[in-house]
Formats: sequence, structure tokens, C-alpha cells
Amino acid sequence: MLLKHSFSDFLKQPEVYRKQFLQAYFNTGFDGYSYMGQKDSSNQYDTDLLHSFVLSEFSETEKFPSEFRGFFNAEWTNLISKIESIELNLIQKLNVDGLLEFYGNSVGHMLSCNYYPVVEKTVSTDALRLSKHIDVSLFTVFVFGIDEGFVFQKEHQKSEALFASDDVLIFPGYLLEYLTNGKYKALEHQVDFSGMPKERFSFAFFSIPKPDINIEFQGLNFSSETYFNDYLSLF
Ligand SMILES: [Fe+2]
Repeated sequence: MLLKHSFSDFLKQPEVYRKQFLQAYFNTGFDGYSYMGQKDSSNQYDTDLLHSFVLSEFSETEKFPSEFRGFFNAEWTNLISKIESIELNLIQKLNVDGLLEFYGNSVGHMLSCNYYPVVEKTVSTDALRLSKHIDVSLFTVFVFGIDEGFVFQKEHQKSEALFASDDVLIFPGYLLEYLTNGKYKALEHQVDFSGMPKERFSFAFFSIPKPDINIEFQGLNFSSETYFNDYLSLF
């Protein structure tokens, strides 16, 4: 609730205030605000029907809007350590050579706060709230659960919609596919309209390479920027 209130407080601010915090201001990873209809956001299309704010450990906390300060002080560290324990548990089960070391040395976390206002379905050209994509992450974790509208597709299978749930949801992103040469595929997903038009919030934690580092993994050697560019070139 603290995070939801913090994000809502930010969204209630005048446009001129919100636009001080666009991604260009941070110039770090994906950090920053993207507004609905924005053409140059690196984490959403201009047809996507949401406002998002990406927070992370990669920028100074003071650089983020003051509306998020209480959340950073009270909850960030605790949430990240819970998420790390979930991810480490999964990494042990996956049994991918070098992945544990890579995770320990090269991975940090960002959080995408997403707000989908009430919009009539006819407004969208493709009738989606968020277009089909895979995430940039090693894993994406919805630690607070998920509201209705989340639809995913496993390879060569029909898409499936999830019901709203308070359970933790975790799935692989493109980084796991990249590092395992496709052994573990990133999960394709989107957000559909579902049921009555109502506003929707979601909070997705991503484990991603720390910006501006060199990565060595099982004989591969690449920079995190190379990885981000490879990911962005998928779209
Ligand atoms: Fe996503």
C-alpha cells in the first residue's frame, strides 16, 4: 500500500513536475518516468495504455521524486532481500553452470511501477493495455501478486490469462534465455482489457545486469550495454 500510495501521489502531480523525471534525466538503465503516449520511452510503446515509473538501486535514491522516499526508506531493502531469496532458490533448482556466480557479481534490481488508467477499449488500436513482449530481466517477480489482465504465452501454446492473485508470481526474462542459449525461454506476456473498465496497478521487480559493467559468463564476454541493446533490438 505504501508503494501504491507513493506512486499515486507522484501521478497526481502536475505534468510539468512529472516530466522532470523522464528517463533522459536519469540516463541510467531504464530508470525514470514514462507517460502514456510517449514516443521515446525505452520500456513502453506509444500505443501502450499506461504510465510507468522505473526505480532501481542503480541511481541515487535522492534523484527519484520525493513521493517515493518513504517507500525507499521503509521497504526497499527488505523487499529486495526477499526477492533475492526467491530468485536464489530458483537458480539452485535450474542448475545452470555459472549462473549463481553471475547473479552474485553482476545483477541488481529495478522496479517498474505501472498504472493503467480507465480507458475505453476502442481507444486502443490493438485492444491491449500493454503489447506482447518479453522482459529484459533474468527473472521478473510480482512480489505483491497480480491484478486481472495478465496474459502469457508459452512457446507453441495458446495464450492463458491469469486470475487476480495475491501469490508471488515469477517468470523468466530474456537474460535467462540469452545466458542459456535458449534452453530457458523468456515468457511472452501482455496486459489485456478484462471485465469492467477499471484502473489497474502493477509492480514488477526485475533482476538485470548492473549498468556499465563487463560481464563474463561461461566463456562469453560482453558489456551490460551490449546486452541492453540486443534486448531493445528485438522490438
Ligand atoms: Fe513485462
